[in-house]
Amino acid sequence: MQRFVYIQTFGCQMNVYDTERILQVLEPEEYAATDDPSRADLILLNSCTVREKAEMKMMSYLGSFAQLKEHNPDLLIGVAGCVAQQEGERLLKKVPLLDLVFGPDNIPELPGMVQRARENGERVSLTKLHKKKKGYEFMAGKPMVTGKPSTMVTVMKGCNKNCAFCIVPRVRGRELSKPCSEVVSEVERCVEAGIREVMLLGQNVNSYGHDRDDGILFPDLLDAVDAVEGLERLRFTTSHPWDCTDALIDRFANLKSLCEYFHLPVQSGSNPVLERMRRGYTFDEYVERADRIRSTVPGLHLTTDIIVGFPGETEEDFQRTIDLIHRVEYDGIYAFKYSERTGTKASQWEDDVPEAVKKERLARVFEAADIYRKQRLATYADQVVEVLVEGPAKASKPTQPQLSGRTRTNVVVNFPVGNAALGTWRWKGKLAQVRVKRVLQHSLYGEIELVQ
Ligand code: 5AD
Ligand code: SF4
Repeated sequence: MQRFVYIQTFGCQMNVYDTERILQVLEPEEYAATDDPSRADLILLNSCTVREKAEMKMMSYLGSFAQLKEHNPDLLIGVAGCVAQQEGERLLKKVPLLDLVFGPDNIPELPGMVQRARENGERVSLTKLHKKKKGYEFMAGKPMVTGKPSTMVTVMKGCNKNCAFCIVPRVRGRELSKPCSEVVSEVERCVEAGIREVMLLGQNVNSYGHDRDDGILFPDLLDAVDAVEGLERLRFTTSHPWDCTDALIDRFANLKSLCEYFHLPVQSGSNPVLERMRRGYTFDEYVERADRIRSTVPGLHLTTDIIVGFPGETEEDFQRTIDLIHRVEYDGIYAFKYSERTGTKASQWEDDVPEAVKKERLARVFEAADIYRKQRLATYADQVVEVLVEGPAKASKPTQPQLSGRTRTNVVVNFPVGNAALGTWRWKGKLAQVRVKRVLQHSLYGEIELVQ
């Protein structure tokens, strides 16, 4: 019997990837994805707990399904992901309408859980994290079903760092790397299925391979993936500055598919704050890495994550973060107000920066970073850029069709396709040479010159 599953994903790309794995295990059970919750037999929320806001959003979403459940007693509702991993049984107690709670390592067991819930009316929680060094089997990933020409491939799970603010090691466990041969064959399958761009995914990809004894580290993995015939673009995320080695940086100069984009989270510019965060580097050490990246790869876009209002952050500490932004001239930033997470080291300290101060610092961080993003985008004016076409632009209209894609540096470029009769599907996954006509706030607008 054909059934429907509705999944809402919160949080990072790791969760986006896990959502695909969830769909994959449900496929043999004759579940097809739907984007209409009222049509679903199974509703799943793949949750994030990195900041309180993400968790609250998920919880309020969950409440909104109560009515659906009243109308359809057969409907099963479940929470997956990081909140599930953190809360387990407690979540079943807290939320009476919930039937299923399962952690990221329990995705393969989902069909059995659904069966128990359906047949015996059980409410099931499975949140067993794989903690041993051996014996973990990565699910053999299939190319993602997003229809986009780019996709993600997980190369490792977990994180061994112990940043004081971060809940990830608790909910995702120790680092475990997927064997290189498995990564390569997954990438090969993606390319065969028409994928042209792959993002290698891990909480800290730079420490890839340290848990294995085959001597293959992250730069070697990049070599192996770059060698896959037909792969046009390669990216990775996320990196920790601590083990961002010269060998890794040099790959940008040597591997043709590796795109000129690097996300290197710094979190703070203040040495005392960095120390309390247990990041393992200083302002100067970070800047040295950033300089090396910039000088090795001209034109690369360097982006970062910043937390404002970490416990004990003074105005002077915060000023060092602003100094750092001016020093590195980031091409883009992601910035967050510190959010206390139960179970982290920092949760033992008072969350003492007032909300109003956090808000104001967040605004100042964006203001400082904006200068450089704008400056960088302005350099694209009248240049020809290579765009991997992803599909119709958000602003596309039937009368004025527009396509959208990204540069190798990860900037969104929209451009009109004069003749509506061309349709958009034939363009997907093509490389277009686009001349930039207008530089917008966060994207570029241009005219197509050539398609490959
Ligand atoms: N509060 C605020 N931001 C956080 N991040 C991680 N944990 C927290 C927290 N407790 C941010 C970091 C990280 C990004 C994914 O989320 O900047 O790099
Ligand atoms: Fe959120 Fe972290 Fe889990 Fe990703 S790994 S979903 S960022 S808590």
